Amino acid sequence: MQGVATQHAPAIALPLLHILTGVAAALLAGTALFVDGPALLRHPFGDFRALAVTHLLTLGWLALTAIGASYQLVPVVLEVPLRSTALAWASYPLLVAGTGAMVAGFWLARPALLLPGAWATATVLLVYVGHLAGTVLGSPRRLVYRRYFLGSLAYLAALAVLGGLLAASLRWGWPPVDLLPLHVVAALLGWATLLAMGVAYKLVPMFALSHGRGEGAAATVFALAAGGSGLLLATLALGRPGPLPTVAAALPAAAVALFLRDQWLFFRSRRRPWLDPGLRLSATAFVYLGLVAGAGWLATARGLPGGAETVVLLALTGWLGCLLAGQTYKIVPFLVWYGRYASRAGRARVPLLREMYEERLAGVAASVLPAAGLLLACGAALGSAVLERTGALAWLIGYGILAVNLVQVLRA
Ligand code: HEM
Repeated sequence: MQGVATQHAPAIALPLLHILTGVAAALLAGTALFVDGPALLRHPFGDFRALAVTHLLTLGWLALTAIGASYQLVPVVLEVPLRSTALAWASYPLLVAGTGAMVAGFWLARPALLLPGAWATATVLLVYVGHLAGTVLGSPRRLVYRRYFLGSLAYLAALAVLGGLLAASLRWGWPPVDLLPLHVVAALLGWATLLAMGVAYKLVPMFALSHGRGEGAAATVFALAAGGSGLLLATLALGRPGPLPTVAAALPAAAVALFLRDQWLFFRSRRRPWLDPGLRLSATAFVYLGLVAGAGWLATARGLPGGAETVVLLALTGWLGCLLAGQTYKIVPFLVWYGRYASRAGRARVPLLREMYEERLAGVAASVLPAAGLLLACGAALGSAVLERTGALAWLIGYGILAVNLVQVLRA
């Protein structure tokens, strides 16, 4: 395997297009939060405009970035080509259009737009799940990452079905049950966090040059996180009051503790002492993950001021926001370099990865973006417009610099 590229990977335009669209959505959502943050963040859970921004982030930025990265990483890590690159290309415009209709439907409070958008998006996600699961199952390699990919895909299917049902319930009041907590847990814990942990187990030791530590407790972490998410969903679905959800939430919290211990060991044994902006952002993301696990457990035990909103904001803009930015700084320059210069390396002068973008500017982003999650979560919990707007500004600066640097990488 050569870093994050091999002959199994699709043309780099496929992951790049998804990742660049994701960054554009992150900037649009950041702008909405900056302009209208106080109204959006202090909404009662379920406010339509807030839902529009939530899904601009979760589908427009997070899902598109994760899907683009998976098209690159699954073939490389599991040494198997995508089942159908044509299907991957065809689903991109459908996903963008579905998400666009859904976000516009929420923003304008127009069920006639929201419902088709939500169902189209859910369908595209389910097709993606089938396609990627088929690819993963076709791999001859029985690596631990296989479980992470398959487990997170199962939760993605669940969250898409639950999302489609929630949209129907907003329109017709059916099904008459509260599926929102299930949708949020399946999305942020079962899908996004499980996938992000699996990818971090593969990429962090590789980028930090800390080989030799193996996979740490990756298999146990998977069992605790995937099993705990399932148990939490089951207790929420059964509507059992009492200590059961709190006990179930302790399993993913234990998974996070083990995962963070492994990441700490990877960082401590790295052979490259200097942390570049991509690795600094990834390290910050892990601090946020610890906060999210603590806050999530407290929210389940109903002891956290601001409750679920605080956890959602910390998870989205802190943990996932820093991790995705950090990994994008590592993956995209490598992909472009590999496609353009790998064949000439050793025979002619080729740029170093860090020469392909403004590293000093990326350093500014790595210092500013980490503040976004904390400022937004505290601002929403304390009802402070100043904190909320400053948090949105930090997000915009972090992702704005990432956008400028990605354009520079493409032109390098
Ligand atoms: C097919 C894709 C999806 C559909 C159709 C969908 C649909 C919905 C609907 C209709 C609601 C509102 C429920 C209500 O208030 O009664 C909702 C809420 C929510 N969804 Fe999704 N969703 C999708 C994907 C996602 C993803 C990928 C994530 C996160 C990774 C996510 C996170 C959330 C969150 C956090 C809320 C609560 C937000 C709030 O009330 O402010 N959704 N979703």
